Amino acid sequence: MRRDKNCGEIRETDIGSNMSIAGWVFRRRDHGGLIFIDLRDRSGLCQIVFSPDIAGDAHTKAHDLRAEYVIAVSGEIRKRPEGTENPNIPTGMAELYVNKLEVLNEATPLPYNMEEAADAGEALRLKHRYLDLRRPEMQQNLMMRHRISKVMRDYLDEKNFIEIETPMLTKSTPEGARDYLVPSRLNPGHFYALPQSPQLFKQILMVAGMEKYFQIVKCFRDEDLRADRQPEFTQVDLEMSFVDRENVLSLMEGMMKKLFKDVMNIDAETPFQRLSFHESMERFGNDKPDLRFGLELKDMADLALKGTFKVFLDAINNRGMVKAINGKGMAALSRKEIDMLTAEAQSFGAKGLAWIKVKNGFESPIAKFFPEDVLKKMAERLEAKDGDLMMFVADKPKVTYDVLSRMRLALGERLNLIKPVYKFAWIIDFPLLEWDEEESRFQAMHHPFTSPMDEDIEKMLTGNINDKDMLSSLKAKAYDIVLNGYEIGGGSIRIHRQDVQKKMFEVLNISEEDAKMKFGFLLDALQYGAPPHGGIALGLDRLVMIMVGATSIRDVIAFPKTQKAFCMMSGAPSTVEPKQLKELHIKTDVPVE
Ligand code: AMO
Ligand code: AMP
Repeated sequence: MRRDKNCGEIRETDIGSNMSIAGWVFRRRDHGGLIFIDLRDRSGLCQIVFSPDIAGDAHTKAHDLRAEYVIAVSGEIRKRPEGTENPNIPTGMAELYVNKLEVLNEATPLPYNMEEAADAGEALRLKHRYLDLRRPEMQQNLMMRHRISKVMRDYLDEKNFIEIETPMLTKSTPEGARDYLVPSRLNPGHFYALPQSPQLFKQILMVAGMEKYFQIVKCFRDEDLRADRQPEFTQVDLEMSFVDRENVLSLMEGMMKKLFKDVMNIDAETPFQRLSFHESMERFGNDKPDLRFGLELKDMADLALKGTFKVFLDAINNRGMVKAINGKGMAALSRKEIDMLTAEAQSFGAKGLAWIKVKNGFESPIAKFFPEDVLKKMAERLEAKDGDLMMFVADKPKVTYDVLSRMRLALGERLNLIKPVYKFAWIIDFPLLEWDEEESRFQAMHHPFTSPMDEDIEKMLTGNINDKDMLSSLKAKAYDIVLNGYEIGGGSIRIHRQDVQKKMFEVLNISEEDAKMKFGFLLDALQYGAPPHGGIALGLDRLVMIMVGATSIRDVIAFPKTQKAFCMMSGAPSTVEPKQLKELHIKTDVPVE
């Protein structure tokens, strides 16, 4: 079998030459005497023609070809007759007239029609992933993923980073999700954890003098899954010595600029916009703002206090807030449609949605609670004009932010406000600590090795660790990179001083013993001359998803898992032989079939 060209590479310039191509039978059309087949390989489609006048044998055999048979054909490339060209595909001017056909393999009838694969239902597609991955869109996605990894790897190589592998069978890492555990046969009752990230190892590589490390690496987190979350996902992970925040940020900006230029020919604007965590929450209600459109949240507490609407006043008195967004042109909504919006807000966790139409004055069941000049000020602040709908949520900050940020995204889509651009941002100045209501203690907002801001280090070292306000005010040298409403990466400058690390554990209420047990090997290493260091990890799956325009990271992962962390194709996870469990000294208390 010879293969002179790929199917998708046949051009007008090939007309007149004889060649062999191979691929999968995609579409077949019988037209009286002639049989047309769209032959497909990774490069694209090419039309081949079987004519009884040219090769009777091949023509007869062609009657038996079915979808997804694998064939090789040879023959002459001819110009398509006038009027039958297909300008929509690059091979559309030519076709191959077959004089020899070889069936390399047959295919049993397919579980679904390949042409309608996109509608086949994800469960079926995932079960037969090898068929799903034959679709041009999926092949494009994986080829693009390869290009993206390669550009980033080359960029880091140019900047003198070295790729170093770190263990998969390791100890629990502190990224805050549940671990995937692996029992040790040789150490009964002991478990490895699959890494949630290479965090501890990359810091140790800095102590080991590697200076610039990176790795494109699988990470494992047992958490609730969503469209942008998989139990195993890939990070472009890096760490550098003798750097501060600015070095990491500009390295990443350079990388994104090169990536978007090389892969998509798009000039990403640098430096990226920077927002403090606080500003991002205030204006967008979350720390991964979609900056492709406005519809920003506005604080209304001061104006709410000038009225008598009890819902607002109660919220404010309850350490809550009143915030609003402007639904452009939405004053035309009927009462029923507004009820549906309210139900939507409630499904996001709100108690209700107060609204005021700007429509020849103000129209609302709650307008009566506010003097006219206050209503005017509300409209002014929201830049609400005649025809707009002001929507308010009054609640605890967490609920208010969450509901309005989700309403904002939903409305942005519904009102067609989202521009087809790529908007990067850095979120910086994160709080160092986050109060955990349930456990009644502070947690590290990023992870316990993240350094406080220089000006906060003394404050933390000398302050009273029971002073909740002081601790809440500490800021971290942490940063997230955000693209079009997704957190595509996060990192920080680390603590390299032992006294600071010790204090951090104290604040987090992690005993010396506990710290030793969990991350003793890092603490040991930090005693032996640790350089100042910091880094970041990009979520590769999310970045690729955004770049190819997919809506789920499952579409850019060759073999993803379902919401229940199940692999439809291989059937993992599965039960194992009792003998295997016995060797591992494991008994389960669930009856398994
Ligand atoms: P972080 O936990 O922020 O940082 O992870 C970095 C990035 O990884 C992506 N990500 C995920 N993608 C898909 N599925 C998941 N379940 C998932 N979880 C995270 C996100 C996220 O921004 N060790 C630190 C980095 C550092 O400090 O250098 C870390 O892992 O895009
Ligand atoms: P009520 O006084 O409960 O009839 O509510 C009057 C209006 O306020 C309705 O439009 C409710 O949807 C809305 N509302 C109720 N609770 C809240 C809240 N916490 N935030 C914003 N609007 C609310």
